[in-house]
Amino acid sequence: MIHSTEVLVIAGSVRARRIAPQVAAWVAEVGRAATSAAQPIALEVVDLKDWPLPLDDEPGVPAGGHYEHEHTRAWSRKVAAAQAFVFVTPQYNWGYPAALKNALDHLYAEWAGKPAMIVTYGGHGGDRCSEQLLQVCQGLHMAPLATRPRMKLPRTHIEANAGEIDPAKEFADHLDELTQAFAELAAALAAGPRQ
Ligand SMILES: Cc1cc2nc3c(=O)[nH]c(=O)nc-3n(C[C@H](O)[C@H](O)[C@H](O)COP(=O)(O)O)c2cc1C
Repeated sequence: MIHSTEVLVIAGSVRARRIAPQVAAWVAEVGRAATSAAQPIALEVVDLKDWPLPLDDEPGVPAGGHYEHEHTRAWSRKVAAAQAFVFVTPQYNWGYPAALKNALDHLYAEWAGKPAMIVTYGGHGGDRCSEQLLQVCQGLHMAPLATRPRMKLPRTHIEANAGEIDPAKEFADHLDELTQAFAELAAALAAGPRQ
């Protein structure tokens, strides 16, 4: 029997009228289509709204691994059980949303040694937040993939702020890049955890 690998697709935005869950769901769909039956990868979309973590509320240093609050312990179990991560995040003022940083900073060892795909979106593809998230993933000792899709969100979409998007249509130009990134993810998972 072939066991599938658990990969969390973490949507970076929690703001009202966001598009992040739709974008993350589409990225996961692309990943499922790109994954072979011989190496099943179970992609689960994680909405940080379902994991409310008060801002920096743990008294200890996360690297110590001792968490006082049950919400942190639950988040720790969730992240520890995963073998890789796909971060799907918008760019906010050249960075990435605070909710994502807070979710990252609540833990430490749970992220380490695991492949991380960084997918950003924004007017210019979220290139600056992609760079920042890359550095933070490196700081947390993840293994970021070489291909970081930076998906261009049309200006009309940003201005409309309708909270709705058809990612397959708007991000069609990035499909090949995403498929390439998933091939890298599959190869990294096949190679096993990084020490
Ligand atoms: C606080 C904030 C800052 C933003 N900063 C940028 C930016 O630096 N570059 C950019 O291209 N778009 C920026 N935008 C526009 C976002 O790309 C757009 O609103 C997108 O839909 C945000 O993703 P979300 O809907 O999933 O939250 C910003 C939006 C917000 C709310």
